[in-house]
Amino acid sequence: RAGVFTYDPGFTSTASCDSTITFIDGGKGELLHRGYPIDQLAGKSHYLEVCYLLLYGELPSAAELEKFEGLITHHTMLHEQMQNFFRGFRRDAHPMAIMVGVVGAMSAFYHDSTDISDADQREIASHRLIAKMPTIAAWAYKYSIGQPFIYPRNDLDYASNFLRMCFAVPAEDYEVNPILSRAMDRIFTLHADHEQNASTSTVRLASSSGANPFACIAAGIACLWGPAHGGANQACLEMLKEIGTPDRIPEFIARAKDKNDPYRLMGFGHRVYKNHDPRATVMKQSADEVLELLGVDNNPILQVAKELEAAALADPYFADKKLFPNVDFYSGIILEAMGFPTSMFTPIFAVARTVGWISQWKEQLSDPQHKIGRPRQLYLGEVNRDYSDIETR
Ligand code: SDX
Repeated sequence: RAGVFTYDPGFTSTASCDSTITFIDGGKGELLHRGYPIDQLAGKSHYLEVCYLLLYGELPSAAELEKFEGLITHHTMLHEQMQNFFRGFRRDAHPMAIMVGVVGAMSAFYHDSTDISDADQREIASHRLIAKMPTIAAWAYKYSIGQPFIYPRNDLDYASNFLRMCFAVPAEDYEVNPILSRAMDRIFTLHADHEQNASTSTVRLASSSGANPFACIAAGIACLWGPAHGGANQACLEMLKEIGTPDRIPEFIARAKDKNDPYRLMGFGHRVYKNHDPRATVMKQSADEVLELLGVDNNPILQVAKELEAAALADPYFADKKLFPNVDFYSGIILEAMGFPTSMFTPIFAVARTVGWISQWKEQLSDPQHKIGRPRQLYLGEVNRDYSDIETR
């Protein structure tokens, strides 16, 4: 359904759907969640408060926030029998494969929140998904390294709970480092929602068929996995490691510029931002801060990233094509410094983006015309051909 929106005089566009959740001004490099700039939210708010804003349209009062945080906190455990799903995978399964499977299977366990025509069930499903995604991602990681599952705790905030479920072991106490917890929360906030990106559009399309919320989010996770989308954070760090030292940067820049080489700099470019990605700016500041506080600011990969960014931005090819670092360029450096393997980078993106998918899913269902539509095609193939017997072919 075409919708026309204006943000400031002279900037109008037609859209595939109307929305009041997130606005991106690609030319100015601006990102707003319910009208609030992302740099303000990343600097002054925290992830669960941003979740409330995305879901309900307004910043919560203290009482509203306390109630919402209590609801999420008390939904973080998984049905005990769901552990069997994890154990059905090979140990070397990618955590995203496990997340797609387990989230899709949630509809088989939480029958009281699958009826999308019931507003209360939609609300319960929303809270369950936001609350349980960190547990699912953490348990996928634990399963992949052969360690026991760590249960969530109700005395920890969202980011601290996730870090503890990933890195604690039963054999000893685990104290969450507040620096890591703040950095984790900020990474969740920076990835929370991003207008009609590929995975969000996938969730909207799935929801237009009336599929249950768990199936819709599982579809979003599957789409996010791609290296051109959410998988770029893993691909970017692997690229930086492949470059290894600043003296090899020209070789990789040359490859990225070569029309005959499909190679692209991971973490660079964006379908919408043709100026800087405001999230990358905050992420770069966070990388400097976290690595310094962790005493690893001499990390050679961070040096390669900074010199690669400088070299690319100084190169007319990237400037002419308006290619800048995106949200994925620095996030992997922080996540690795926090102790995560690259295979966990996209699952963390999926945890953070769940609230964006859910908010857009709810908005879609609240629209009386909520059919996102059935895409049509321009048919360019053969027509009216006569069948020929195989002996004559
Ligand atoms: C995310 O949609 C979202 O909002 C996504 C996301 C979110 O929060 O949901 O922001 C998260 O997915 C960020 C993007 C992560 N992906 C990567 O970092 C992968 C590397 N980047 C690209 O593959 C690419 O930049 C895209 C897919 C992200 C964007 O593609 P565009 O804007 O459609 O650009 P394009 O494919 O049309 O390319 C335009 C030109 C091309 O050259 P020409 O054909 O015009 O000669 O720029 C070149 C491309 O070859 N180009 C690159 C490049 N990205 C584009 N050249 C080298 N390196 C790159 N990274």
